[in-house]
Amino acid sequence: MDVHRRLLSTSAEYVAARSALENATTQYVARQQRFAGIAKIPVVVHVVWNTSAQNISQAQIDSQIAVLNRDFRATNTDIGFVPAPFQPLVADAKIEFALATTDPNGNPTTGVTRTQTSQASFGTDDKVKKTATGGIDAWNPDKYLNLWVCQLGGGLLGYAQFPGGPADTDGVVILHSGFGTTGTAAAPFDLGRTATHEIGHYLNLFHIWGDDGTGCSGSDEVADTPNQGGPNFGVPAFPKLSCSNGPNGDLFVDYMDYTDDRGMVMFTNDQVARMQACLDNARPNLNQGSAGATGMPEPAGSVLSWGADRLDAFVIGTDRALWHKWYDAGWGPSVSGYESLGGVCMSAPEVASWGPDRLDAFVLGTDRALYHKWWDGSAWNGYESLGGICMSPPRVASWGPNRLDAFVLGTDRALYHKWYDGSGWNGFESLGGVCMSPPEVVAWGPDRLDVFVLGTDNAVYHKWWDGSAWNGFESLGGVCASTPTAVAWGPNRLDLFVIGTDFALYHKWYDGTGWSADWEYLGGICASAPTAVSWGSGRLDVFVTGTDSALYHKWFDGSWAADWEYLGGVCVGEPRVTAWGSDRLDVFVEGTDSGLYHKWWDGSNWGPSLTGYEPLGGVIADFRLPLPVEEPAAPQVVMS
Ligand code: ARG
Ligand code: ZN
Ligand code: CA
Repeated sequence: MDVHRRLLSTSAEYVAARSALENATTQYVARQQRFAGIAKIPVVVHVVWNTSAQNISQAQIDSQIAVLNRDFRATNTDIGFVPAPFQPLVADAKIEFALATTDPNGNPTTGVTRTQTSQASFGTDDKVKKTATGGIDAWNPDKYLNLWVCQLGGGLLGYAQFPGGPADTDGVVILHSGFGTTGTAAAPFDLGRTATHEIGHYLNLFHIWGDDGTGCSGSDEVADTPNQGGPNFGVPAFPKLSCSNGPNGDLFVDYMDYTDDRGMVMFTNDQVARMQACLDNARPNLNQGSAGATGMPEPAGSVLSWGADRLDAFVIGTDRALWHKWYDAGWGPSVSGYESLGGVCMSAPEVASWGPDRLDAFVLGTDRALYHKWWDGSAWNGYESLGGICMSPPRVASWGPNRLDAFVLGTDRALYHKWYDGSGWNGFESLGGVCMSPPEVVAWGPDRLDVFVLGTDNAVYHKWWDGSAWNGFESLGGVCASTPTAVAWGPNRLDLFVIGTDFALYHKWYDGTGWSADWEYLGGICASAPTAVSWGSGRLDVFVTGTDSALYHKWFDGSWAADWEYLGGVCVGEPRVTAWGSDRLDVFVEGTDSGLYHKWWDGSNWGPSLTGYEPLGGVIADFRLPLPVEEPAAPQVVMS
């Protein structure tokens, strides 16, 4: 509020921008408007340190991003702290955050800057935001949320600039010991809520008590928050009455109050509308809107998700046409129904999504050429032929809007690449190699591609595009009995899974500095290739079918689950999985009746039950494997 009043009294532009945004917000809220999909905000964390303790760890930074991604999606585990009468007010802001992967010059970045300063501490005077005053300059605030983390004086936990202010000071400043949940984070402000609160201001939320001291005439301009006298501190007991607001009293569990971190757990519906209005009006270029609800490019496959609460599943029917069904509050066109997309398909479908309501499907035709069909938000287009004589099913990645990268093997078993750059198709370009498995491809950020194949020695080979050139093939070793599966949980991170000749699962990873020396043994006796997904940084979920044809699950959340989780079922072929957001998994398998079956993890339970499945109908000829076209002798996992 100090910054707000200072700007109101010194900047006519700020006064004008504030009132324009308030008008736009009033209309947005009156129309009950919301943006589509999930907003993605690239974040740069500027660590400005004087003592080495203030040079906080990457783990502390990651823990803060994880908190934001729970709090702004209403998936925080302490949300049950909301008293029952207030629970209908709880809202998912549909905003997610990820450390930036590209810096303002277009170069790859970790999204973290570190600056040593001679300043012992900072205040609300914005000195931390300027290189010239002992801090570091902002990155373009139209495109990045700037989070400065430093020592602050005077008991200040953090402060923010409301939208409409000067660009060079736009962003949020947080005390290092009020940042994240580990490292220097100190109770009672060690649950990352200072950043949640300040980003609330940054997205145009006022304090819930209306900033009139302890009077009852101030307003936060939010309709569904009760009128409240002044700030609450500590953790009040329910009900906490003020301003004749009985029987339920103050909404002291709101992020925009002043309670301890463990006492603030929610935003309301109308607060969410205000924040969304801010993103759509005052900060329109901040939302990167890539498809993946996890903040990473959405992996392509026969099942995928372009946003929270959204699923798209594709199968090849016995008529060899491509069939599609989707989940969007319920299954479309019906629980057991599919829409036909036609075609005579000779490969399992590979579908990518570069943004909300966009789907790009790839299959091989009877002439072995690559065919493309796409949903543009209102209609299906294609098939268009992209040519080629393909000896493997296509694998596709999209690292950003209007971008598609398709990989196949050619008749010479070399790897071939075809790509769409927004204006047209390019390639095929040969990337060489003698490949014994279909390619696997993953993109961990803009202009980055990692491709994996098996070589003639059944070792994994890696080829990667670093933004300017192709590198590799490098051998990653191993003697593999399955095509490798690759996942990226964040920038500069790759996790590879294969089945070994002993049918156990093996894991190898790249952490930004290098590959793990050995293949990590994860056990099991696997009867399918592994399928893997990540719903967030530091999280991996792997699924295989066992020799009993049941589905098995193993996960990593800092360490590996000791045992394989038995998920029942009698599955044909390998499972497919997608994650539309944090702590959400949707797994699809083909049953012995050739129907499609679905189960899901909702953050606390498997649905419809631990070992149960939702039948989704259909008669599937191809879900992922095998391929009727002649393939290179890809090692297949044998049922034993
Ligand atoms: N600007 C407020 C302050 O410095 C932030 C309060 C955040 N509260 C919290 N429990 N983290 O006091
Ligand atoms: Zn505040
Ligand atoms: Ca008040």
